[in-house]
Amino acid sequence: MSEYSLPTKEKKQEVVQNMFTSAANAYDLNNSVLSLGQHHRWKRLTISLLQVERGQVVLDLCGGTADLSLLAAEKAGGDGLVMTLDLNMAMLKVGLSKARSGVIDGLKERKSRARPVMIQANAERIPLPDESVDRLMVGFGLRNVTNLELALSEIYRVLKPGGRFVCLEFSHPVNGLWEGLYRFYSFYILPKIGKLISRDNTGIYEYLPASIAKFPDQEFFSETIRKAGFSSVKYRNLSGGIVAIHMGEK
Ligand SMILES: C[S@@+](CC[C@H](N)C(=O)[O-])C[C@H]1O[C@@H](n2cnc3c(N)ncnc32)[C@H](O)[C@@H]1O
Repeated sequence: MSEYSLPTKEKKQEVVQNMFTSAANAYDLNNSVLSLGQHHRWKRLTISLLQVERGQVVLDLCGGTADLSLLAAEKAGGDGLVMTLDLNMAMLKVGLSKARSGVIDGLKERKSRARPVMIQANAERIPLPDESVDRLMVGFGLRNVTNLELALSEIYRVLKPGGRFVCLEFSHPVNGLWEGLYRFYSFYILPKIGKLISRDNTGIYEYLPASIAKFPDQEFFSETIRKAGFSSVKYRNLSGGIVAIHMGEK
């Protein structure tokens, strides 16, 4: 379908990090344009399924520009702790400046919320103690790690018993016609618009549809999460399966 070939396992981290460094400043704008604003709705639903309570410790893995962290910080409140962990400093810097400005989805929030804590680290080696986190979310991140099973085992390790894990990720449309339209859009239209907006030369918007096509489907991913030790694993399709939210408990 496309000439683009995904990076090898050995090169993946370096290639992916170069892409996000290049795209960081235009990342939020591109998300809004390319998803026709839907990513705000997907992220709000992710946070509501995460069921964050006041005072809890929350980790936003592969948190990037901190959209999910900022939403969770409202729920955790001033006595909570929300950490945004990402390998990419350029993405974290955008997130930190959003957190400092107090603007979420273009609106100035007035509620008390957890202060931002940014951690530059690898999701495959989370620098936190065992059983130290109440809630863990990851948005559009696990598709980008090199070793999915290792990242899931780290997620399981840092969660407290009874802790909740929610993953928002691109998935596989459930209807054949919808899938055809979506594939045409994501392989032929999206890379052109994405490149135009971010003036990117790293290929990130070609990597995006290719990595989505390769990512496990809803059922297979659920099974991978179960194998990492999680119970009550469920998923919910959004936008006809373009995106899925997977959930599990420790
Ligand atoms: C598509 S962005 C998602 C950002 C944010 N979670 C969101 O929903 O908008 C993916 C992020 O994953 C980060 N990432 C990729 N591999 C990583 C790894 N092994 N450890 C930590 N972060 C990683 C990238 O640097 C990038 O910021």
